[in-house]
Order: sequence, then structure tokens, then C-alpha cells
Amino acid sequence: MKKSLLTLTLSAVCLCAAAQAPVHHLNVDMKGTGKAISPEMYGIFFEDINFGADGGLYAELVKNRSFEFPNSLVGWTPFGLVSIEDEDPCFDRNPHYVCITNDGRRLRAGIDNEGYRGIGLKEGKEYRLSAYVRTDEDRPMTLKAELVASNGYNGDYGVYMDVQGKGWHKITVNMTSPFTDAHSKLRILLESKGTVEIDHISLFPVDTWKGRENGLRKDLVQALYDLNPGFFRFPGGCIIEGNSLDTRYEWKKSVGPVENRPLNENRWNHVFKHRAAPDYFQSTGMGFYEMFLLAEDLGATPLPVISCGMACQFESTEVVPVDELGPYIQDAIDLIEFANGSPETPWGKVRAEMGHPEPFGMKYLAIGNEQWGPGYVERLEVFMKEIRKVHPEILLIGSSGPYPEDEHFKYLWPEMARLGADLVDEHYYQEPDWFWKNADRYDSYDRKGPKVFAGEFASHDYSTDRENSFLAALSEAAFMTGLERNADIVRLATYAPLFAHAEAWQWSPDLIWFNNLEVLRTANYYVQQMYGNNSGTEVLDITMDGKTLIGQENLYASAVIDSESGELVIKIVNSSDSAKTVEIALDGLKKKQYMTSCRHIYLQNSSLSTVNTFGNEIISPKTKELPASGKTLNLQLEPYSFNIYRIAF
Ligand code: AHR
Repeated sequence: MKKSLLTLTLSAVCLCAAAQAPVHHLNVDMKGTGKAISPEMYGIFFEDINFGADGGLYAELVKNRSFEFPNSLVGWTPFGLVSIEDEDPCFDRNPHYVCITNDGRRLRAGIDNEGYRGIGLKEGKEYRLSAYVRTDEDRPMTLKAELVASNGYNGDYGVYMDVQGKGWHKITVNMTSPFTDAHSKLRILLESKGTVEIDHISLFPVDTWKGRENGLRKDLVQALYDLNPGFFRFPGGCIIEGNSLDTRYEWKKSVGPVENRPLNENRWNHVFKHRAAPDYFQSTGMGFYEMFLLAEDLGATPLPVISCGMACQFESTEVVPVDELGPYIQDAIDLIEFANGSPETPWGKVRAEMGHPEPFGMKYLAIGNEQWGPGYVERLEVFMKEIRKVHPEILLIGSSGPYPEDEHFKYLWPEMARLGADLVDEHYYQEPDWFWKNADRYDSYDRKGPKVFAGEFASHDYSTDRENSFLAALSEAAFMTGLERNADIVRLATYAPLFAHAEAWQWSPDLIWFNNLEVLRTANYYVQQMYGNNSGTEVLDITMDGKTLIGQENLYASAVIDSESGELVIKIVNSSDSAKTVEIALDGLKKKQYMTSCRHIYLQNSSLSTVNTFGNEIISPKTKELPASGKTLNLQLEPYSFNIYRIAF
């Protein structure tokens, strides 16, 4: 009697424990599917939105350096006798310049530049100041440059520059900042009595990415580099379309000497949440050459996007008549020559003269960004026909519109298949729930049609007012297991947007936030980074608890082989608030083949509303080694966690 009571009690405990934590079974079929994962699979999508280029990645610290904003003194505070002129300019495509007169009667004559929501300077760091100057005076004129902190402090420091001789000429001087301040100013004073004209006033940190002049912000490029991106899509986004055709991104205007690249209004100029004046213009100092170069630095395949002759359809109905598309198509063809042509070709020569005789290895071209409707199809058809005639080697990408399942989408996909687009660009800015539910989106996609470019996606968590919450990041990680399981059809994927200045943004969430001094890597960033560094080369079939439909029981998974390291890489998201036990079994291992090690890389937080902040990246990947031997592995998955297991065998 006693014995049976004990038995009863024990079995009740087992049942109870089993009810709380059932063991899930993830079976990995090690024999392989032959579904190769594109080496470019996880990439970066760059657009100049949220001060992504000017004020961000492009390290120029002076706003409106060429005095070409519609109100020429935006960004500048003049004092004394200051005017804007355009007679006999230094640069024909940027003709305005500033004229400063010191009449000897006023206290000071000069200008301050406020930078992009301030100028970020670091104590002891060097900055290169340059400008083009001219004077009619027949004696040397002296300019003084000062760096001024937000409290007016300048460390009693300034550098003097002589302006001498007729005609425009460039002056350059290095300055060392006496302080650290995110909201400093640059001050230019005319010390001598007389008049000096100045244009293209530029201030760069000397320590840019790879130390390049006209370079990029080192900390921001480092953040991109650490993503290990397979490809680099640029320069948009809607900015390639423009609010009007006149303000579309014209790549030809973004190459050649920076001083003479004409200013263009940014598509996002009118939608600032934080701004004093309409001040979002594109200097294109970081133009197509610099973007191709960046792709190369990152080891990423360049993927440019060009206008198809339609202004942004959210803003305008302006289109180029189909029979007048010639110059637009020629721009596309010339772009391929600029990227890949020999230095003997006209556009290859431009690239070579800019410092890169070797080709950039462009192999993709997206035609139009987020276009829709028959008007798009009509135009795309002409582009494709003409480009294919001369460059059949380039993979052409068409759009499926702005949303992942609406009428535009349903109309465009068959049209893209009919036209023979190589890839179709899909965009989804959706709530987390959509991402959970769509983890199996591509399981049933037609394998015979165009491939998928998941070109812009981000989970928008309205419960945190679209912050970069852990919920958003986790739902993206779960969704991406579906991209990976279907890597035979989904060839490229990019989160969007990439960057946002914390004091000048239009759109959130964004992958990387920054201010004038610091970088903030979001939880979403770390999800992308974990995928980018663990992408693998071949998809393996898996079942979870005997089912091929993955995403049940709050567990989302994928498995791939990394042929370079020989490891099996398993990704599992546990989206529930309780821990899960998963037993992994490797089916099809050879008789004497056993697991030898397992590295666990994971992202976890107990609260879905947690957001990383400057100086406090609470959510970032951790790594530990787990014991592994035999053909099965028992794993404990923390609540709300994204887990990668790299298993050697
Ligand atoms: O990523 C922000 C914007 O979203 C892009 O410019 C556009 O393509 C989409 O609407």
C-alpha cells in the first residue's frame, strides 16, 4: 500500500514537470538539400534619411558648406558685413559664395557654422579645415578659424590663414579641438581690414574611415563592417525617386570633384520631427563613387538603385513619358560602365580618375524603388529590354510595391515574372505579429519565377511607439529563420532604414542610431549581425516535433551548413515567456560521426519592451561553449531569446 502511494506521488511529479516543460524535438536532416545560400544573403540598405549621409556617415562637419541651400545662409550665423554673391564663382554648379568685409569699425566680421545639429568635436583630436578663398586686396588678408563649444568656450585657440594673391585658391589647415562637445560651432573671422570671398568651407575629422580625405565617419563604418554584409544597396529608398523628377537622385551629378557636385533637395526634407528650418539637402559629397568604395571596403557586393522615370508615388504623379525615357536608360547603362567598364571607356575613365582603375564588380541593378501600377511595368519593360541588349550579365531587380500583400503586390508579382525580372524587391514594415505569422511566408513560393530580394523590412512595435524594442528584434529574428530556410528563393535581405541621427530623424525604428559623438547599436542591429556572421552555405531540412511547419509552440528555427568551417549552424527563437527544452538530433550522420563542440551565441532579455540606449546596450549577443558529444544535444532555451548554435562534428 505504501509503495503504491509513493509510485503515485512520483508519477504525478513527472507528469507535472512534463506539463510545465515538454521536451521539443528538432531533427536536422544532415544529408543536405542542395539549396545553396547566397554568399550575399544578408546585406545593408543605405539611404540618406534621418541624416544618414550628410550629418551622418559622410564625415563633413559643416552644413551648407557651399552656400547653395535655397536660403544661402541656412546653417550660418553672420556677423559684421556679410553677403552672398555668385559673380565669377569658383564652382559653376555651386556658384554661391560668401563675401566678408571687415571695415575696421565693427567689432568682428565673420560667420559661424552650426553643423548638423551641432558639430561633434573630441578633445585632442585633429580636424582638417579647408576653404576656397579670393581677395582683391593687394596685401595679405588674415582669416582666423576657431572651434567654439556650446557654452562659448574656445580654449583661447584659433588658427590663422593668410589669403594672398588674386583668383580663387584652396587653403587647408589642421586644428586640434581643445574640448569635447557634441554641439560645437566653427567660427571664421576676417581679422584684417578689407574683403575676402570664401566658398566650400569644409571641416573633417582627420581620423576618418581608412584615413581618407572626403571620408566617412569611422565609428559608423565600423558598425557596418561588423555586420559582415554580403551586399550593399544604395542610395535609397525613396530618395532615388525624388519628390519631383527634378530632385531624383542623379548619380552622374554625384561623381567628380566634390566641390562641384550640385546640391539636391532631400526627399525627406519636409518630414522632419526635429528641425528649425528646412535644412535637409544632399551635398552628394558621399556620392556613387564613395558608395561603391564603401561596398568594397565592407566586402559587400554593390547594389545600386536608380530612378525609372517616376517621382516618388507617395508624393507625386510626375512621370517621364515612356518614349522619352532614353536619357534615364542611358544613365543606367552608363552607371554599369562607371562601375565595371575599363578605364578606356568614357565612364570607366571617370572612375579611374577618381582613384579606382579596377572595376567595382557591380552585378545587380534595381530599377525603380517602391513603384507600383501599370505605369511602372510599362517603364520597367523598356529599361530591361535596353539594358539586357548591352549588359545581359547584370541581374535586374523589379519592385512589388510598398506593401507585402496588397493589390499592387498581387498585380506586380506576375508582371515581374512575365518580364523576367531576376529578383523582385519586397518591402514590409509591419507589426511584430505579422513577422511571427510570416515566418513561413516563403515556404510555398513558386521556385520557378524570379527570386526574392527582401529589400526593406523592419518590425514596427506600436506598443513602444515604434522604438527599437526587443519585441521588434525578436520577431525579426524569428521571421528571418523563414528567409533562411527558403534561401533557395530568398537571395538577398536587408533591414531598413539603416541610420538615424538621434536629433534629426524622420523615421523609426532604425538599425543604428548615432549622435554627433556616439553610436548606438540596437537589438535589431545585433539580430542582423548574428545572421550576417552565421549565414552558412547550404540549407538543411528540419522538423520540429515531427512537423515541417516551423513556428509552432513559439519556436522558430532554421539549420544550415557552413561549408567553410564545416559546422552545422542552428538558429532558434523562443518567443515565449517561459524556458523551453529542445533536443536536437542530427539525422544522417555517419556511423562514427559525433558532435565535438557547440558554441552558443544568444540574445536574451526578460522584457520585450527593452530598448538599447546610448552607452547602455543592454541587449547584445553573449557567447558560451556548451558540452557536445554524441548525435543529440539537449538545449535549454531562455524565455524571449534568439539562439545560434554552431556545432562541430
Ligand atoms: O526606409 C524608408 C523608406 O521606406 C524608403 O525610402 C522607402 O523605400 C520606403 O517607403
